Amino acid sequence: MKEFMDKNLARWNETTEIHANSEEYDIESFLKGRNSLYSLELEEVGDVKNKSLLHLQCQFGMDTLSWARLGATVTGVDFSDVAIKRAQSLNEKLGLSARFICSNIYGLDGKLDEQFDIVFTSYGILTWLPDIEKWAEIVAKYLKPGGLFFIVEFHPFAMVFDDESKTKLRYRYSYFDKGPLHFASEYTYTDQEKLIENVDAYEWQHTFSDILTALIDNGLTILNVKEYPFTTFQQFPFVEKCEDGLWRIKDNKYEIPLMFSIKAKK
Ligand SMILES: C[S@@+](CC[C@H](N)C(=O)[O-])C[C@H]1O[C@@H](n2cnc3c(N)ncnc32)[C@H](O)[C@@H]1O
Repeated sequence: MKEFMDKNLARWNETTEIHANSEEYDIESFLKGRNSLYSLELEEVGDVKNKSLLHLQCQFGMDTLSWARLGATVTGVDFSDVAIKRAQSLNEKLGLSARFICSNIYGLDGKLDEQFDIVFTSYGILTWLPDIEKWAEIVAKYLKPGGLFFIVEFHPFAMVFDDESKTKLRYRYSYFDKGPLHFASEYTYTDQEKLIENVDAYEWQHTFSDILTALIDNGLTILNVKEYPFTTFQQFPFVEKCEDGLWRIKDNKYEIPLMFSIKAKK
């Protein structure tokens, strides 16, 4: 398992720099005050003022710092040292007091010992994790009794379709694949021109029921589960960006769930 995660780490360290300089992440406007969170998570998580919030797999911390700007006391965790350095530098530039910890989420024991009012994680995280039961155990461990967990993520069902198919949904991967699935790509999602060296990525597919069951088995009470026919990036060539900045399948006769969210309480 370690060799796959090491490959992923090398790729994330390289791609983080590209993301941080991309128009998509738009750090410049973020530094001037833009909040990078979508209304979806803002509405579901609600008021964070004076609450402690742990953000798992925070990359370079824009969302973490956005929660801080809304009054939360935040801690962000990511295994990419490049991402964490960037996050710390943004924190300094903004004069905020966020804490960022460079760690594999599976290696947090001994590095982080407290519990939080809110555990938050979003957009592009679970496929990097080989063990979904262990992940749910970590979420539960870091939540205070009565604390809130919120995840918004790309839907595992949408991942069975070929992202290279130009015009329509074409089935390609098994929904029940236990992985790791190996992908080799010279590009990252924010830049289709810049070539990268660390082409290998290893990902794990987790079914919707596996994700929910793992949370329930670790003592969380599910408050709501939602599925969405839109996504935050161009997942397929035939999705189009709408006025609200979200991407939808052009012919909505064939809509499928592209994202989901789960809100739960410990
Ligand atoms: C798609 S990004 C998260 C995106 C985040 N929502 C954002 O927009 O910045 C996924 C993150 O997971 C991190 N990651 C992947 N595997 C990890 C692991 N095992 N432990 C900690 N972080 C991990 C990567 O370094 C990367 O920053």
